[in-house]
Amino acid sequence: VLGFIVSYVLTGVLDDCFCDIESIDVFNNLKIFPLIRKLIEKDFFRYYRVNLKRPCPFWPDDSHCSIRDCHVEPCPESKIPVGIKSGNYNKYSLAANAIRDIKECEQAHELGAINSTLSNQSKEAFEDWAHHDDAQDHFCGLDDETSPEAEYVDLRLNPERYTGYKGPSAWRVWNSIYEENCFKPRSVYRPLNPLAPSRGECEGFYDWLEGLCLEKRVFYRLISGLHSSINIHLCAKHLLDEAWGKAVWGANVHEFRRRFGSAETKGEGTRRLKNLYFLYLIELRALSKVAPYFERAFVNLYTGNVHEDSATKELLLQILTETKAFPMHFDESSMFAGHKMEARRLKEEFRLHFKNISRIMDCVGCDKCRLWGKLQTQGLGTALRILFSEKEIKNLPENSPSKGFQLTRQEIVALLNAFGRLSTSIKELHNFRTLLKDQR
Ligand SMILES: *[C@@H]1O[C@H](CO)[C@@H](O)[C@H](O)[C@H]1NC(C)=O
Ligand SMILES: *[C@@H]1O[C@H](CO)[C@@H](O)[C@H](O)[C@H]1NC(C)=O
Ligand SMILES: *[C@@H]1O[C@H](CO)[C@@H](O)[C@H](O)[C@H]1NC(C)=O
Repeated sequence: VLGFIVSYVLTGVLDDCFCDIESIDVFNNLKIFPLIRKLIEKDFFRYYRVNLKRPCPFWPDDSHCSIRDCHVEPCPESKIPVGIKSGNYNKYSLAANAIRDIKECEQAHELGAINSTLSNQSKEAFEDWAHHDDAQDHFCGLDDETSPEAEYVDLRLNPERYTGYKGPSAWRVWNSIYEENCFKPRSVYRPLNPLAPSRGECEGFYDWLEGLCLEKRVFYRLISGLHSSINIHLCAKHLLDEAWGKAVWGANVHEFRRRFGSAETKGEGTRRLKNLYFLYLIELRALSKVAPYFERAFVNLYTGNVHEDSATKELLLQILTETKAFPMHFDESSMFAGHKMEARRLKEEFRLHFKNISRIMDCVGCDKCRLWGKLQTQGLGTALRILFSEKEIKNLPENSPSKGFQLTRQEIVALLNAFGRLSTSIKELHNFRTLLKDQR
């Protein structure tokens, strides 16, 4: 039991960078988290424009919170009595399962739905924002934002939490991200979904990882870190009770153990959590690197409310200053440091893989999960773009807004919200450790 607890405490040094986890915890929980939480409440960061209607390009759309995923086909209760008709001895449990599946299915529909409520006032403001952004001469963003089907979503009305979305569809999304999109050494093939249950948890997986060059290892760890972070949110905001039609949300320790416990995951959980810290450091690094961009007077966070806008920017600059002061960072200069041609090829490969992962998010069958998946992928993509644009950021002209490195509103909103999610994860982790200690 002691080992179990200790493994959550995660002492020690993170591989691939010079940092220790305790310092990150203190830095995040005391300094960054309170600030970032305040920041993302601001109107500029609260509304995210997203197209949730794009079809999945990789396999037939199993539509939103697919009924097929509930193992009942089709959902209506008239179809249940399969077990009952078959007359076998466990017919009651079969029927009960079918009913439970339908309940889960309905729940997933309900909890995964987007609340698209926006006040008329906000809608008017968005038109004004669009005029402003168009005038900014940004280079093209993702086709997502420019698509006529894209809509603003109020992130505060749609918190990332447990939705009941699971089963084959959810599994397939992560599976294809890991299996088809992580760099693989060309000579060896290993099935490598580290979160797949019932596969011996891929023992030896990390031996395999050892054989990869730094860039590929980094890519894998980023994806794993993202996966961990999302899972922590689902555990921390789990549906605990639904008595009297009123949902109660809170930390589900059992669920947390199932995903991260060292016994439950044969030690894999600790690595998943380390990857979360790793991802955190990468995004932190990106924030510290992009500070000079936001320090330019011409970069404003426009919502049309001059007073509020300058307060938002001030808060953002305060956060960026904190990130610059944090001494331990991932040293990305060691990445892409090899032969020039090889470096360029790898960088491009990175970019394409990332773009592909954004497209896979269109295959997520639950709107709310899709929303947060897209936002966090775009945030991470933006962080990487920043890291690879160090020179361009350094060479930014002092007074010309239309030359050199730029970020779109979308990228800024995604970057800060994605980082806010990671910051929240690390804070939630602290909470889970306390809960686990109390259980001892
Ligand atoms: C959406 O959010 C608004 C504002 O909080 C709330 O009044 C409304 O009931 C919500 N709608 C649904 C379907 O949850
Ligand atoms: C918002 O605008 C719509 C259409 O213009 C209108 O029907 C509706 O009454 C307005 N709602 C409020 C609360 O002003
Ligand atoms: C993109 O993802 C799809 C679906 O997982 C996969 O079939 C395809 O090979 C991937 N492409 C690249 C370039 O990784």
